[in-house]
Amino acid sequence: MQALSFETLAAIANTHGTPVYVYDADKISQQFRQLKTAFQDSDTRFFYACKALTNINVLKHVAAIGCDIDCSSINEAKLALHVGVAPERVLYTSNGIHFSEIQEAVSLGINVNIDSLSNLEKFGAAYGHDYPVGIRLRPNIMAGGNLKISTGHDNSKFGIPIDQLDQILDLVKKYNLYIRGLHIHTGSEIKEVAVFMQVADVFSALLPHFPELAFLDMGGGFKVAYKDSDHITHIDELGAEIARFQKNLEAQYGKKFQCWFEPGKYLVSECGYLLSTVNVLKQSGNTVFAGIDTGLNHLIRPMMYDAYHRIENISNPDGALHAYTVTGNICETDTFGTNRKLHEVREGDVLAIYNAGAYGFEMSSNYNARYKPAEVLVLEGEAHLIRKRDEFADLLRNQIPVL
Ligand code: LLP
Repeated sequence: MQALSFETLAAIANTHGTPVYVYDADKISQQFRQLKTAFQDSDTRFFYACKALTNINVLKHVAAIGCDIDCSSINEAKLALHVGVAPERVLYTSNGIHFSEIQEAVSLGINVNIDSLSNLEKFGAAYGHDYPVGIRLRPNIMAGGNLKISTGHDNSKFGIPIDQLDQILDLVKKYNLYIRGLHIHTGSEIKEVAVFMQVADVFSALLPHFPELAFLDMGGGFKVAYKDSDHITHIDELGAEIARFQKNLEAQYGKKFQCWFEPGKYLVSECGYLLSTVNVLKQSGNTVFAGIDTGLNHLIRPMMYDAYHRIENISNPDGALHAYTVTGNICETDTFGTNRKLHEVREGDVLAIYNAGAYGFEMSSNYNARYKPAEVLVLEGEAHLIRKRDEFADLLRNQIPVL
């Protein structure tokens, strides 16, 4: 399926101004269909890792197409419930949180994964065998696109280290815990199917210890393409491997284990665009800076992870190609792309930054007291404003004048 056309994007920039995030609901549906097809021979459940993008309209769309919702905070869970997702379709994988948040999750009736011995002990004392729970483990596997988004290695804060299995089992016994699932998320942007199958091997070895297990949660982390040459996770191959894995387990244990995945980027990265207007062109030696009306306050991925995001000049698609270094308007170095070949850029042109759906708006801020951008959702060919751009009052909201 094609990306949104330059004409569509330009019309949205014209109507709603820039900077603006644009999301294509069809693209999300298409990505979900691909997952369903790839895993059709297996018993797999998908939870959208909504930390990638929590606009309630996106949550609603994702739930409507049949995908469940994975949350990393109690407020994400409340947003999912707010849009009408049933509690049993909501998963909450906590990290570093106070036990009261887990209690709240239990009171909401959602699925809970626990990632510390300390909270597991408190959970046992509070609920014993009454509430099923999953355990997030740290398998000591190095995986993912870069260290900042790698979570399964032996120096990571995430999950209970696998070498503490004895302590986990002691707690399970002491409180008669109902361990319904195991969870491992090794990182984001994992290209290799082998990493997921390594996780499957870790689960296999643990199964005999947890007789009430029903699901094995392998987290998210599927790699998407940022440029044409990018190698992405081979979803079809992974689906086939998971089906084989489940058949083997069934033969061995005489029971079925459902696999869970928590894709974030896979569902929403490519659906999103950040549209921004060129404020100034500046020649400096051999470099031409194109200074745009957005910055690291709106899309931090290029600066934080050295992420590559494709950029196109949608206002002048037939212009001659020249090299530009695209920079933001924040009082700090915020380079979106260095020496990118773009169709001739003029002040006032609108640039589209691609792969902006995941961890774009969601990680935005009001740094430099600038407004957060608007958000638009294209649904069945129609563009809907789904979040207003901030205004001055938003900068003052919650501030308390005392002088
Ligand atoms: N499940 C868990 C437990 C996670 O921690 C994450 C992401 C996911 C699922 C979804 O991973 P995904 O499918 O989106 O790769 N801000 C960074 C990514 C941080 C990912 C945090 N955890 C970035 O923009 O690259």
